[in-house]
Amino acid sequence: MNMKEEALLRVENLTKIFKTGFLGKGEKIIAVNDVSFFLKKGEVLSLIGESGSGKTTIARLILKLLKPTSGRIYYEDTDIWEISDKAYWRKVQAIFQDPYASFNSFYKVERTLKNVFKLFPDKVSEGEKDKKVHEALEKIGLNPKEVLGKHPFELSGGQMQRLLLARCLIIDPEVIIADEPTSMVDASMRVILLNIFKELSKKADKSIIFITHDISQAFYISDRVLVMYRGRIVENGPVEQILFSPQHPYTKRLISDVPKLHEKFKFTLT
Ligand SMILES: Nc1ncnc2c1ncn2[C@@H]1O[C@H](COP(=O)(O)OP(=O)(O)O)[C@@H](O)[C@H]1O
Ligand SMILES: [Mg+2]
Repeated sequence: MNMKEEALLRVENLTKIFKTGFLGKGEKIIAVNDVSFFLKKGEVLSLIGESGSGKTTIARLILKLLKPTSGRIYYEDTDIWEISDKAYWRKVQAIFQDPYASFNSFYKVERTLKNVFKLFPDKVSEGEKDKKVHEALEKIGLNPKEVLGKHPFELSGGQMQRLLLARCLIIDPEVIIADEPTSMVDASMRVILLNIFKELSKKADKSIIFITHDISQAFYISDRVLVMYRGRIVENGPVEQILFSPQHPYTKRLISDVPKLHEKFKFTLT
């Protein structure tokens, strides 16, 4: 079996150009430039790159929230634009960088979390909904009594990021795209969340695209790493390879912090 056949998600020659200005006559921004990669079942693939390198645009393209300028994305060998939104979003979910943008601010948390059951093909009973919501919240260490009756603006960014992960756990998709999912939580919660992602991949066989600009988190969590620079993938390989023999000047620059990185591991993980 070759790599392509094993792939759950496949991105081929993906390009996204944004046109700015009145009627799109201004500047052209090539946010994603001819990017190809694949994601296998059960693996954690990290997408590392500095701010503006195109990471979130890739996440939005994979989620079908944006149409590509060119290129294709396949889920189990079917073009994702040929799959119904509902069926696709049962399989592929994301945790976005700005958690407030993902929750309707008029609704209490309970309503937003329970809305995900609309994605389920079969009707779910109220009792079953309550059970799943409570289980997911407990897993990420939030007290259902404290959060379910609140609106997003009454909660911290860190709580909101954890709620997004809880939402994902309820949906139980095959692929999770986590876009800087720990940017708003403190160091100890960060380790807890990273370990949940690891467990999802290793024990539940979920495939995860972990997006970050923090190389130490990427190395802690990933099986494989893609390094992005100005819309392109400049490096692609197993964690050890990228860490010990980086090829691209940008990756070399990133890795120049590695002694500090090891210190950081000791610091955050013990
Ligand atoms: N909707 C948009 N309209 C115009 N430009 C955009 C839009 N979204 C992103 N960009 C631009 O595309 C580039 C990549 O952005 P993004 O994917 O958000 O990068 P990252 O997530 O790596 O920080 C940036 O130059 C950004 O300004
Ligand atoms: Mg981003």
